[in-house]
Amino acid sequence: MTVEPEQKNGEVGRVLVVDDYPMNRMKLARILEQQGHTVDVAGDGVEALAKLKAAPFDVVLLDIVMPELDGYGVLERMIGDGALRDIPVIVISAVDEIDSVVRCIEMGAVDYLPKPFNPIVLRARLQTSLQRKRLRDLERSYLQQEIMLRQSEKLATLGRLSAGMAHELNNPAAAAKRGADQLRLAVEALQDANDRRNQLTFSDPQRARLLELGKQAQARARQFEQSSALAQSDLEYAVETWLEAAGLDDAWEVAPTLVNLGYDDDALTALAEGFDRPQLPAVLAWLAATYNVYSLLEEVGQGAGRIAELVGALKMYTFMDQAPVQAVDVNQGLENTLVMLRSKLRAGITVRREYAENLPRIEAYGSELNQVWTNLIDNAIDAMDGQGELVVRTRQEDGLVVVEIEDNGPGIPPSVQPHVFDPFFTTKAPGSGTGLGLNISHHIIVDKHGGTIEVRSQPGSTCFEVKLPIDGVKEG
Ligand SMILES: Nc1ncnc2c1ncn2[C@@H]1O[C@H](COP(=O)(O)OP(=O)(O)OP(=O)(O)O)[C@@H](O)[C@H]1O
Ligand SMILES: [Mg+2]
Repeated sequence: MTVEPEQKNGEVGRVLVVDDYPMNRMKLARILEQQGHTVDVAGDGVEALAKLKAAPFDVVLLDIVMPELDGYGVLERMIGDGALRDIPVIVISAVDEIDSVVRCIEMGAVDYLPKPFNPIVLRARLQTSLQRKRLRDLERSYLQQEIMLRQSEKLATLGRLSAGMAHELNNPAAAAKRGADQLRLAVEALQDANDRRNQLTFSDPQRARLLELGKQAQARARQFEQSSALAQSDLEYAVETWLEAAGLDDAWEVAPTLVNLGYDDDALTALAEGFDRPQLPAVLAWLAATYNVYSLLEEVGQGAGRIAELVGALKMYTFMDQAPVQAVDVNQGLENTLVMLRSKLRAGITVRREYAENLPRIEAYGSELNQVWTNLIDNAIDAMDGQGELVVRTRQEDGLVVVEIEDNGPGIPPSVQPHVFDPFFTTKAPGSGTGLGLNISHHIIVDKHGGTIEVRSQPGSTCFEVKLPIDGVKEG
């Protein structure tokens, strides 16, 4: 966008003169060109709109009474078009048309120019409008710059999210690593135990029993769960005593494993009945070694599975490797966002999900919608200050998908509510909020998807409601 510098003799700009009288058009164009402006003309409303759409103008001089599309029609369409709304319109009018002028001003025209044209009045009115336009352009270009800044802020958000992600990944990664490290020793121990067992002779029923015990140990490893430490150590002591009595050298080492495997001294006594006393140490050592290997495999598998799940969520959250516009499953997007925010959500905050079943997919910019959910949920978490309930709700309504993010925090005071979507509006301490989260969300929902975003709030309940059309993102 170019912002014209102020000229020595006042502002100059591109002016569109719209009048159905050729004589009027010529007169105005001549005066304006003498004053240094660049002028284009249109003979009716339809032509005017076509020219306004084709090239940028700084001011429009608009006649009211015209064939085809009159001045009101042009004004109405300009106000309804985001790209034309900010171009100041000066209405051209005869002295007896004052009611029409008032109506135009009410519709959004900024000024009027009486006929017959007086070059001094024309210059004055035009200067005011051009200044106004220049300031608006300036404001817009600043905003544009800030939006660019927000792009880098987006990276910062990603940085924040990845810090949370690193935290989430840490536990399963450490568990998998630990499991893998121990597995080598456990496999060696199992080989030894197998060798010892194979040196013994077993009867057919004993062989069958061993097969069964091995399978039980594998199955038990798959559903490993820790019992309370106290109960565990009591049990371990009892089992260790039993094992020592049975002649096991390394009773203290095997006892915890057998306890995890579900044995107490009664169960061991029952097991011992199936074997000869000299066989027992080798059988029990083999059983414990089998269980160890399988439970470590389980631990590695679970850790790796959790890592894969988190990476998958991250991939889905960012819509990595996918086209920008997708058939988006909104429930899934909300879920992925909750996974991404899990480390922030853990303390004291419960999440209630009220997802509509069979919610239709919507055509949307998936990763940008997730940015909106992130901003809304982030705000809700901040508002609740570590304690409260977050409700995430979806439903379908009249060709729209509706998403509500509700929290039971302190609410937004009525005097603040009208400003929450303004750029840079924040009530947070410097450094903890830029005040752009809701502004960007508004842009994504309203401008990019043709949806709406609204807030209802009172003390103890704040609800942001987003409505998105099911069929399609907005053009452009
Ligand atoms: N759920 C909520 N409860 C209470 N106040 C809220 C809530 N959501 C938003 N607000 C208010 O709206 C303001 C603007 O929110 P917005 O997300 O745009 O910026 P921010 O959160 O302050 O900063 P950031 O750019 O980091 O998101 C917040 O500072 C807060 O005062
Ligand atoms: Mg925010």
